[in-house]
Amino acid sequence: MTTYVINLDLPGAVQSRHLYGHFAEHLGRCIYGGFWVGEDSDIPNERGIRSDVVDALRALNIPNLRWPGGCFADEYHWKDGIGPREHRPRMVNTHWGNVEENNHFGTHEFMDLVELLGTEAYVNGNVGSGTVREMSEWVEYLTRDGDSPMVRLRKENGREEPWKVPYWGIGNEAWGCGGNMTAQAYGDLARQYATFLRDHGDNKLYRIAAGANVDDFGWTETLMKSVGCVGCNSAGVASPYQAISLHYYTMSAEWENKGKATVFTEDEYYATMANAWHIDTLLKRHTTIMDHYDPCKTIGLVLDEWGTWWQVEEGTNPGFLYQQNTMRDALVASVHFDIFGKYADRLFMANIAQTVNVLQAMILTDPDTGALVLTPTYHVFEMNTAHHDAHVLDVVAKDAPEPRKIGDKKLPALSASASTKDNSALISLSNLDLSEARTVTLDLRGRAFADIGARILTAGDVRDHNTPDAPDAVAPKAWDGVRRVAGGLEVDLPAHSYVTVSLGLE
Ligand code: AHR
Repeated sequence: MTTYVINLDLPGAVQSRHLYGHFAEHLGRCIYGGFWVGEDSDIPNERGIRSDVVDALRALNIPNLRWPGGCFADEYHWKDGIGPREHRPRMVNTHWGNVEENNHFGTHEFMDLVELLGTEAYVNGNVGSGTVREMSEWVEYLTRDGDSPMVRLRKENGREEPWKVPYWGIGNEAWGCGGNMTAQAYGDLARQYATFLRDHGDNKLYRIAAGANVDDFGWTETLMKSVGCVGCNSAGVASPYQAISLHYYTMSAEWENKGKATVFTEDEYYATMANAWHIDTLLKRHTTIMDHYDPCKTIGLVLDEWGTWWQVEEGTNPGFLYQQNTMRDALVASVHFDIFGKYADRLFMANIAQTVNVLQAMILTDPDTGALVLTPTYHVFEMNTAHHDAHVLDVVAKDAPEPRKIGDKKLPALSASASTKDNSALISLSNLDLSEARTVTLDLRGRAFADIGARILTAGDVRDHNTPDAPDAVAPKAWDGVRRVAGGLEVDLPAHSYVTVSLGLE
């Protein structure tokens, strides 16, 4: 039997709540039909923003929301999205379905959404087809107080006070849809743009340069070289931007053959989980490069796109990236979160793609009836909220089952992580095996505990998912498969399950 040794009295780095961040792009039905239904909709809304979506996301304490893209960010011109809606210019969303964008959801609507959600804004600017001036003016429009040309424009559009915008993306996927640039060319541009992204008043921007795709370690190295030197002094690296990003999506096979969301074989399931686990290797290698140039860890890593990417559901627009979400997606998420904690001293933020109706969504809405469904992935986020801003606890496995070999990758059967905050601890346990139930021992050292709570997310079949007719087919339940034993607990983990154990520490 596997034993997990956890020293409850040895808290490690804080894992930022921003690791549980979100992403909303002008893509398919994420913004339009997802968040935004318009003020005249029959669906209950506040100033055009769908209320049930807001309520569901508030329950996740979502720490940040990235917008407006994605690839869309590099063809978005923010001045098209302000002023009276009926006068806003239109454009074609060439990346996503070639549909017309009416710009009804723009800066004011996004910041209204941020305020309704009680979250923080991560605005992604346009490097690919924009200008330094355009981006600089957007920051001024959003965050400056007092009097200035952009402040007057904002006030004319009905907003007196500046907003707080803590996070700013300097373009997106500059190696691809963001301009097909070389790393060196983009690195120079990122320095230039970052220079003119000003801190107005007490709004301090955390500027995020567009980083690597998957295993493009050269891209990371070029950006790190361009921000500093080998080594750093006590003040760290003086960089014009504060973080670089990384994108990694999980599929069951290669890009051309992503696999389907609900129809997959056991082999495809295990290949998917091995690909999810690959984020560990990617984070290790990218952070090792960053450590070389910035051992003081002044520059953050931001995984601002991750999650599953399947073939679109039959009959839906291929450019809308609408996919179902099963218990398999939930386990992809739980594995990512376990791994994120290991890199908490460098990985500052992560944003799953995307919040509503696109890729690995939290929420799916029916375009005809408007019915809203929470996905299994939503429930993993909800079960993890106590990990936000908690100190990572090391989890050391003894007698772990032999990992499964899948091509050149190895997939452990079990995954675990733990954290502590405010005299409590949360332990996350995933059993990735499709048929074998397992029991694990938690060897809990260093502090006494009481108030044991446990919850489980599982399903009869790993392909199970939620629909308007069966909204709770995959939903968390209280779990009684937890027993006190000498020195800790024993926890039963059914096949393909995710279990959380919460402890009150004495
Ligand atoms: O999330 C969907 C797309 O994936 C984003 O627009 C882009 O950045 C990435 O390629």
